[in-house]
Amino acid sequence: MSTAFGFEPTSIAVVLGTRPEIIKLAHIIRLLGDAAWIVHTGQHYDPKLSGSFFDEMSLPEPDVFLEVGGMPRGAQIGVATQRLDELFAEHRPKAVVVQGDTNAVLAGAVAANAREIVLCHIEAGLRSHDRRMPEEHNRVVADHLADLCCAPTDVNVANLHHEGIPDGRIARTGNTVVEAVRELVPDADHRRELCTSMGVEPGRFVLSTFHRPENVDDPDRYRAILTEMAALELPVVLPLHPRSVKRAEEHGLGDLLSHLIVVEPIGYRDFLGLQAESALLISDSGGVQEECSILKRPLIVVRNSTERPEVIGTFAQRVVPGPAIGAAARPILAHVAAAHAALADVPSPYGDGSASRRSLEALSRALGG
Ligand code: UD1
Ligand code: UDP
Repeated sequence: MSTAFGFEPTSIAVVLGTRPEIIKLAHIIRLLGDAAWIVHTGQHYDPKLSGSFFDEMSLPEPDVFLEVGGMPRGAQIGVATQRLDELFAEHRPKAVVVQGDTNAVLAGAVAANAREIVLCHIEAGLRSHDRRMPEEHNRVVADHLADLCCAPTDVNVANLHHEGIPDGRIARTGNTVVEAVRELVPDADHRRELCTSMGVEPGRFVLSTFHRPENVDDPDRYRAILTEMAALELPVVLPLHPRSVKRAEEHGLGDLLSHLIVVEPIGYRDFLGLQAESALLISDSGGVQEECSILKRPLIVVRNSTERPEVIGTFAQRVVPGPAIGAAARPILAHVAAAHAALADVPSPYGDGSASRRSLEALSRALGG
């Protein structure tokens, strides 16, 4: 027996493929110790979206890389599923753990199901009810295949019940993002240095990220977002995802980007530090919707829908691309201190930082431990 949870060495396959999965599985992997068998599908292959997060979060190298990055969605899911199936035939884990809603999650879920291996889905039960998003399909399928759904909030548990998933397959755990933030958020000195390195003053800038196909694949929506941000009274720091870099080039949006402080994707510690020092966040990220509630910063979510309604009306407001972005941002930027003070004592809906432990305890029970 290797860990506090009674798992054998390399008996728990952790399948992941993208930046947010590495962040939110990091504490689980550490708790698993030598019970973890890490399989990286290679969906994110750029060191700034993958390798650097393993280093920063002190994780061991993945045991296996499947190299499906850059393929279209169907091929990514198909090839990763086939390679996982071959792997699981050679080395049969006791359970497969996946997190979130990416293509890597769907491949891990289908491969576990095909080999009749216990499937544990971390961050289960989120629903945008927006069938235009590939992630909605990925997460629905993963939840229905999972033997154990680790649901962060009561809203997520209710979504699972609504679809007929019984209590016996659900554990309410909180979200593992809380552990990740607490472990890595930098101190005040480091945060000040970060601001200096970006050429901004603490509390006097907007931090933004965009990568959703609904925003950056559509030239008009992408242009509308950048136009609104370029017109704000505070500078906007924009670490740009590779997908968004490529689309900006294809859509000829270089001129608009030149009005913003565009940088490459930033490491997690520094990105948390910038969030904590920002006046306002503007983003279409899933993870940022959670982190804003831990770091107590206001967020404008620019999307058609959200699977994280828990933060809407307190930390976040949702708008669609266009003048609504500026209209939502200006009142906050006119009264930054008051906007921050209003959030300072609002509790995060994502729990107390024990989600990773609770998830593994539930998995141990599901395996008969
Ligand atoms: C994926 C997830 C999304 C998640 C996001 C996190 C799906 C359907 N989408 O979106 O849910 O929010 O990751 O960031 O699983 N690329 C690179 N380098 C990389 C990775 C990607 O250049 O390391 C480029 C490639 O051109 C690729 C494009 O970005 O075709 C999109 O990558 P992909 O992994 O398919 O989707 P994301 O937009 O990253
Ligand atoms: N993030 C980061 N550096 C960046 C941008 C984002 O570390 O330059 C982190 C962010 O704090 C969050 C995660 O990456 O935890 C979110 O990733 P992304 O927005 O790509 O995916 P999503 O959460 O939307 O699936």
